[in-house]
Amino acid sequence: MAVNESLRVLRTTHYDQQHYSLFLSAGSIGPATEPGHFAMIQAGEGLRPYLRRAFSIADVTKVAGVPALEFVVKVVGVGTAALARFAEGTPLPVLGPLGVPFPIDDLQLADHVALVAGGIGLAPLVLLARTLAARGIAADLFYGGRNEHDILKRAEFERFLGSHRCRYATDDGSLGRRGLVTDLFTHALAGGARYRRVYACGPVPMFRALARLLADAELEGSFAMESEMACGFGVCLGCVAPMADGRFGTICKEGPCVPPTLIDWTRF
Ligand SMILES: Cc1cc2nc3c(=O)[nH]c(=O)nc-3n(C[C@H](O)[C@H](O)[C@H](O)COP(=O)(O)OP(=O)(O)OC[C@H]3O[C@@H](n4cnc5c(N)ncnc54)[C@H](O)[C@@H]3O)c2cc1C
Ligand code: FES
Repeated sequence: MAVNESLRVLRTTHYDQQHYSLFLSAGSIGPATEPGHFAMIQAGEGLRPYLRRAFSIADVTKVAGVPALEFVVKVVGVGTAALARFAEGTPLPVLGPLGVPFPIDDLQLADHVALVAGGIGLAPLVLLARTLAARGIAADLFYGGRNEHDILKRAEFERFLGSHRCRYATDDGSLGRRGLVTDLFTHALAGGARYRRVYACGPVPMFRALARLLADAELEGSFAMESEMACGFGVCLGCVAPMADGRFGTICKEGPCVPPTLIDWTRF
């Protein structure tokens, strides 16, 4: 069950001008978090920004021995810029954990899964990689970005999954294969790779292409979706998306982690 609590800023680690990790004290949200959950964070004290912002809980970890939640953030506007500037110790109102997490309870030791990330879509996959590694489940990572600076937390993924299981694609070829992450994944499937389930997070064009690939290869998927969210718990209807059955569904309540077959990709 989600709680609304005040969590202190423990540390902010900047990767470059656009990307940072925000570590907040874990409160009672930490122990309740499963991979794929998200939280709504108030990014300031005044009216700008007025609404809380949604962020995947990227990891449940420790900072100098203190239990912490990690959020990996890309600066795109006023809220994500403000969150980067809070001093250590600042209390921030946080509501979480929210949403439907990635399905992992049914995985068996013999299962082999894939993680597909595009850009800042790496965020919900960090805790997933940590959890799969702890359970001894083999996972291949396919991670794409515009250039090598978009590829974050590489060392962590390689530690959790093994560096031989981590593959990268960049638009400019500065890291890994030149091209799209979906090309990298297609190449793996063409080489005979088969997966019990494919977990993914990234931009809509990546989701669309991956949904088609999974349907063609008859592979199961779980996509951590994004939509503009005002409440995060099914009340405002700001986050609705067209579903395959013709209705509109709330991404915050029915997701964010959904099978790709649930979404009508022609209207999303
Ligand atoms: C479930 C969920 C998990 C998310 N996890 C992360 C995460 O781990 N890391 C991260 O950096 N971001 C994440 N996001 C996106 C994040 O919520 C937005 O980037 C953020 O709300 C933008 O706030 P802002 O005030 O900086 O931008 P604004 O000033 O509000 O907007 C700037 C621009 O970003 C667009 N935008 C705003 N919100 C979204 C959104 N939700 N999706 C797409 N475009 C948006 C606006 O249309 C506008 O063009 C997540 C979103 C959802 C719904
Ligand atoms: S964000 Fe309000 S209903 Fe989903």
